[in-house]
Amino acid sequence: MAKEKTLYSCTDCGGTSPKWLGKCPACGAWNTLVETVAETGSASASKNRFAALAPASAVTTLADIEATDVQRTPTGIGELDRVLGGGIVEGGVVLIGGDPGIGKSTLLLQAVDALERNGFGRSTSDLPPGRPKADQPPRGAATRAAAERGGTLYVTGEESGAQVALRSRRLGLDGSQVKVLAETQLEKILATLDAQKPAIAIIDSIQTVYSEQLTSAPGSVAQVRECAAHLTRAAKSSGVAIVLVGHVTKEGALAGPRVLEHMVDTVLYFEGDTHSSFRLVRAIKNRFGAVNEIGVFAMTEKGLKGVSNPSAIFLSQHSEPVPGSCVLVTLEGTRPMLVEIQALVDSGGPSPRRLSVGLERDRLAMLLAVLHRHAGVACMDQDVFVNAVGGVRISEPAADLAVMLAITSSLRGKPLPKGFLAFGEVGLAGEVRPAPRGQERLKEAAKLGFSVAVVPKANAPKKNDKAFEGLTIHAVDRIEEAMELARSLD
Ligand code: TYD
Ligand code: MG
Repeated sequence: MAKEKTLYSCTDCGGTSPKWLGKCPACGAWNTLVETVAETGSASASKNRFAALAPASAVTTLADIEATDVQRTPTGIGELDRVLGGGIVEGGVVLIGGDPGIGKSTLLLQAVDALERNGFGRSTSDLPPGRPKADQPPRGAATRAAAERGGTLYVTGEESGAQVALRSRRLGLDGSQVKVLAETQLEKILATLDAQKPAIAIIDSIQTVYSEQLTSAPGSVAQVRECAAHLTRAAKSSGVAIVLVGHVTKEGALAGPRVLEHMVDTVLYFEGDTHSSFRLVRAIKNRFGAVNEIGVFAMTEKGLKGVSNPSAIFLSQHSEPVPGSCVLVTLEGTRPMLVEIQALVDSGGPSPRRLSVGLERDRLAMLLAVLHRHAGVACMDQDVFVNAVGGVRISEPAADLAVMLAITSSLRGKPLPKGFLAFGEVGLAGEVRPAPRGQERLKEAAKLGFSVAVVPKANAPKKNDKAFEGLTIHAVDRIEEAMELARSLD
């Protein structure tokens, strides 16, 4: 293959330059030029570039387009299927990101082995009609191609085949029929996909794959983007499901972050503390299912095991209540989970620190301001540290009330009562806003034996419901009410 011309394009504005410059000539941004393959207007390469992503077709009325529901194949790992929206989709591309060592390779190896054992893609009689393609060969040929297709391929660029084999033994996957390819060159991987026609291919990891067309090093934004685009095109045109493994940088972003996220169908992130045994897999984007669904796993010596009832795993076990701790019921996807929020308020220096783990830092600063202004609780000269126990990341604002109660509890050195929990969003005006599906959250708390709850007024159950038995529910409208209540409880 002839080497394609490369040029440098700005990641901010898309402006181009024939050579690398520190400053984008178009928008003036610094350090934004990255190497890309030049798209020459006349060359067929540029026309093909997006052709397979969305095949060209005539204009049609929406109602006339046949909407076939996507066929999903469950991986057999329940918690993974939950975040995938039911299973693997033919031609679907999944990006799975996470810190090194969190368990991406382990989970995927378990998943492909399970798929291989179930003969994924090998039975051809009940294959769904392929998605219509502009350049699809006649039906007979397609069916024949499908008949030859099937099975799984695990492309490892980070570890040798022997290392993957060693891991599969550790996982107890004896006699695994998963095909392994130790390769990092994109062109060779694409050729193998073409020759083997697997039904699913894992690329572990996208950062190690490089294309000969580019001179930049593997893992650079240009390489990652180009390789992911080629693989996505291969998936869409051949129907192979592809899972790309992506590493997260120290700042918490995937290399070539935005570029990859919009290219693929599904984005999953691994979360959790590598020091604890629990791991969360969260769907950030899913064209085939719901987002913000999470899967919960426990890392054991035999790999990752799904935790089907995870509601109480993020509570630390205090024998007696301690100051600075407040339990929150968070709703992740469709499941309520109880998470302990811990706060430590300590006298700080001239510029006090505000640090949060698992919660947004900007939101913490906002909550401290609301606390001061509306509830008269001042932490101005204090260091404030907030942590969500167990390495969970909480993005929903319903955590606000619990965070504020934990902070005041630490500031006063007084624990909240035993079996206490709170949830609710707090606005800048000091109002406590309802959290979505409050009753479900309260039911879960009651089930786990919690006894006191502070919740937004709109979330309080209307009448005496049997499901909340044993749980005293205090409904509040404003943050000062909540603080008053917490004070009266000790
Ligand atoms: P790995 O799957 O290699 O992570 P990634 O691909 O995300 O970098 O991470 C595996 C980690 O989990 C490693 O630190 C060892 C541990 N582990 C177990 O505890 N039990 C097991 O059965 C396996 C295979 C790994
Ligand atoms: Mg790995």
